[in-house]
Amino acid sequence: MSITAIKGMNDILPGEVETWQFLEQSARDVFGLYGFSEIRTPIAEKTELFCRSIGETTDIVEKEMYTFNDKSEKSLTLRPEGTAPVMRSFIQNRLHNLDPVSKLFYLGPMFRYERPQKGRYRQFHQIGAEVIGVEDAKIDAQVLAMLHQYFVRVGIESVSLQINSLGCPDCRPGYRQKLIGYLELCLDNLCADCQRRYQTNPLRVLDCKAAGCQAATLDAPSVLEHLCSPCNDHFSQVKHYLNILQIPFIVNSRMVRGLDYYVRTTFEMVTDQLGSQNAVAAGGRYDGLVESLGGPALPGIGFAIGLERLVLMKGEQRIGAAMPQLFIAAIGTEAAERAFVLMSQLQVAGVRVEMDYLGKSLKAQMRRANKLNAAFTLILGEEELGTGQAQLKNMSDSTQSLVALDAFVEFFAKKQV
Ligand code: HAM
Repeated sequence: MSITAIKGMNDILPGEVETWQFLEQSARDVFGLYGFSEIRTPIAEKTELFCRSIGETTDIVEKEMYTFNDKSEKSLTLRPEGTAPVMRSFIQNRLHNLDPVSKLFYLGPMFRYERPQKGRYRQFHQIGAEVIGVEDAKIDAQVLAMLHQYFVRVGIESVSLQINSLGCPDCRPGYRQKLIGYLELCLDNLCADCQRRYQTNPLRVLDCKAAGCQAATLDAPSVLEHLCSPCNDHFSQVKHYLNILQIPFIVNSRMVRGLDYYVRTTFEMVTDQLGSQNAVAAGGRYDGLVESLGGPALPGIGFAIGLERLVLMKGEQRIGAAMPQLFIAAIGTEAAERAFVLMSQLQVAGVRVEMDYLGKSLKAQMRRANKLNAAFTLILGEEELGTGQAQLKNMSDSTQSLVALDAFVEFFAKKQV
């Protein structure tokens, strides 16, 4: 039996990869405008990094990590997300000494052992961005403006931005206790998962998809009504700056994130096009994270975009492979050799050229030129080699012109610029 890929881990094939490249390049372009530099961290990290940052009681750490011992019995984990590795690298390389404000972005595969379904995979790709060093709400709005601009750039409009504030270590514990008290009264109506976690991670219950939990928590206390005054002011400023930048948003006080490091502003870009996997991008503030990982007490904020979900949304608007600018059809060994040399010279000159390698008939070669969507074809046979001239056919309007083979490379390369 042939070997197949691991469940939930997908190949990205020619024909699809062009959409990926477009989405990745657009991120480099847009994020560059906002002053972000790329950072690349290893795929695997010490397991402890994720336990300490994402949180021991989160779904990711409890059940979704790809954790294994290496040959010297060290526990390693394939990164389930990018924020913790970037913070680890930021601290280790003392990036705060280079600049008081660090703006970093990354893209690459992440790994979570989740149940695969449309839009949810075990290896998936994120484009993420992080700003370390700024507490001012202007940066929250700026990060969201950049995310908004990215979606505009890639032509995805059917998304909406939802924002919330989760408070801080001063005000959240009080809210948490109040929520636990509320949940205790409706415990029988909660799903088994929520009955288990309502004490350890009560905010997660608000986010549970089970109908019973949703109905039971309809009147649950709102986090926004329990913010301390500095958190309340910060959230008001975020909304103010979003308004003056004309970034549309909805406040969703029930939005909870699946990672423990968040404080204050959290957000998601959601769509109704992807069924239950409706978050195309998500993020928020993590002001205590750098310090808790052994670094300086610097605030941070960022997001990650799920690339597979974006690709699904691009759907029909896929970007195909670049078509050849020229197909050289050759009949006979000598003509094939001349075609081969011409092709190589044109490629060096920056032209996308194809030819036949399988000894096919002229008819079959023309069929292939059509299939590849070549812009021009050049037909070479014994006669053309003899006269030193050949017909160049424009495939879109079928017009032909006689060209000199000796000067062809220069002629055609110039024609393309
Ligand atoms: P997250 O919400 O866990 O946040 O993931 C961000 C995005 O990654 C999701 O909104 C979704 O689009 C995509 N995603 C997550 N899991 C999967 C999966 N199994 N299959 C396909 N796509 C998935 C984070 O990872 C945070 N590090 C974001 C962040 C950066 N917060 C601050 N800075």
